[in-house]
Amino acid sequence: MTFQQDLESRLSAAVASVIGESAATPVTAATDLRFGDYQSNAAMVLAKQRKTNPRALAQEIIDRVDLAGLATAEIAGPGFLNFRILPGAYAAAVTRLLGDAKLGVPDVGAGRTVVVDFSAPNVAKPMHVGHIRSTIIGDSLSRIARFLGFNVITDNHIGDWGTQFGMILYGWKNLLDNAAIVTDPIAELLRVYREVNSLIKADPTVLDACKLELVKLQAGDEQNTSIWHQCIEVSKQGLQKIYDRLDVTFDHWLGESFYNDRLPGLVEEFVARDIARVSDGATCIFASGKLPDEQDPFRVHKEDGWTDNPAIIRKADGGFLYATTDLATLEYRTDTWKADHIWYVVGVPQSLHFRQIFDAAERWGKHCDYRHVAFGSILGEDRKLMKTRSGDNVQLIDVLEEAVERAAKAIAEKNPEIPADEAAQIAETVGIGAVKFAELSQNRLTDYVFSWDRMLALQGDTAPYLQYSNVRIRSIFRKLETPFDVATASIVLGEEAEIHLARLIVRFAEVLPTVIDDHRPNLLANYLLELARAFHSFFEACPVLKADEPVRSSRLALCDLTSRVLSTGLGLLGIKVPERM
Ligand code: ARG
Repeated sequence: MTFQQDLESRLSAAVASVIGESAATPVTAATDLRFGDYQSNAAMVLAKQRKTNPRALAQEIIDRVDLAGLATAEIAGPGFLNFRILPGAYAAAVTRLLGDAKLGVPDVGAGRTVVVDFSAPNVAKPMHVGHIRSTIIGDSLSRIARFLGFNVITDNHIGDWGTQFGMILYGWKNLLDNAAIVTDPIAELLRVYREVNSLIKADPTVLDACKLELVKLQAGDEQNTSIWHQCIEVSKQGLQKIYDRLDVTFDHWLGESFYNDRLPGLVEEFVARDIARVSDGATCIFASGKLPDEQDPFRVHKEDGWTDNPAIIRKADGGFLYATTDLATLEYRTDTWKADHIWYVVGVPQSLHFRQIFDAAERWGKHCDYRHVAFGSILGEDRKLMKTRSGDNVQLIDVLEEAVERAAKAIAEKNPEIPADEAAQIAETVGIGAVKFAELSQNRLTDYVFSWDRMLALQGDTAPYLQYSNVRIRSIFRKLETPFDVATASIVLGEEAEIHLARLIVRFAEVLPTVIDDHRPNLLANYLLELARAFHSFFEACPVLKADEPVRSSRLALCDLTSRVLSTGLGLLGIKVPERM
């Protein structure tokens, strides 16, 4: 049980004995440590409901609450309850964590399945920095959910079936460089795609030729199907290289094409069940009339009032759309995988699409906790959408390479004695860690400005700072003549800096579940920064190796735990820690 849960249950027992019935008594971490470690506004809320004096009620609760061995309590302002955890309780809690591989983190997800839909680039188009956000956030949320005990299924829902294949097929047949498609398939497919695009601009008949290729593919033409397969294969291999570098894995790669066979039947079912109807030849899902207009994703506001904004699931020419595939996809995930939650880590511009398919899914009876985990854009230092000097979208792989290069330079300057192959490995860990942390320490919904210097700084809110903090801790242990056995240590807390470090170590188990409440890895990232800062203050104020026993062992154990929380926490953000740097 965390301190927060312990306080809540003791408080609720006291409240029940004061007011004669049970009531909610939420406790949160204090916003300002001067007032204590935890706080509750339960007395104020209850007093308001019961029209009594809040301070008097708070006093009655404090008189009854049994906080023995745990905390002291105080009333503040209009009736806040403030709790201060006893140093002895912190010491006991930290001692328990010494032997706990999960660092006190509760299995809040046990028995529940969550499907995480992230990355999902479109084949034959490059993965750009926009995809970096989905890949990094999705991977981190998956790792965190797994650590919290959820059964996690990660699925890379790649766009492997779209109108772009008309152009790709035409280009493959007419423009392909057979050597380049082997050495750098993603770049070659992109080149072909771009070249066909400009051909179309110059000569519109090329577009007709492309459409013809697409129709042939959709009709199952043998040659086109085989080219399509090759195209998917080389693209997947190219993507896999990037994922390997990022240390991102997927349980499945069920792309859009996986659902092709299901689409006609799905549309029929929607019509038969009156969820969709034909309008101007297209099959559409309209507003159900059950929601107020402003909440209904199938209605939008235009100058002359509310108007229909249907989701089309079959075009008049018989073609299926993104929404159709997404409905088939969520059906598979809820029926076959028995998903309790599905998290779609996709940019803000698709929010209307997701509101529509979630609403349609509910009407269809596919109940599940669907979440669009949306995110904003990455801006260049000029605060405009990030572009290369030539005006193209920046490609993910280039970002990673530059990060690693810059990290390598910094390491060579700082630590020239590290052998070249180890230095290269550290540069990879630091550079990629820096890119990931810059992403994950932001509120995902805000547009963030990409800054090399800021993300790679050793002093600052960065991955290198956290990695370096961990390296410093590990170096303490390298200095020891006899190896230190944490299991035999017991924690004694005296100095304020020591108590604060213990407070933060214990808080890991409370912070982690809040990350998935609203899918915000930045809560974990910011917590880790706070922990590292607390460690540095502790290390300045409290001698470790020079202290006498039992303080020396206790402080060594605090160092060891801090390092475990840092490396576990960074690991949950998908960031590795080097041994030295
Ligand atoms: N391929 C899409 C894109 O790049 C993202 C797919 C997201 N997942 C989904 N189930 N719609 O925009």
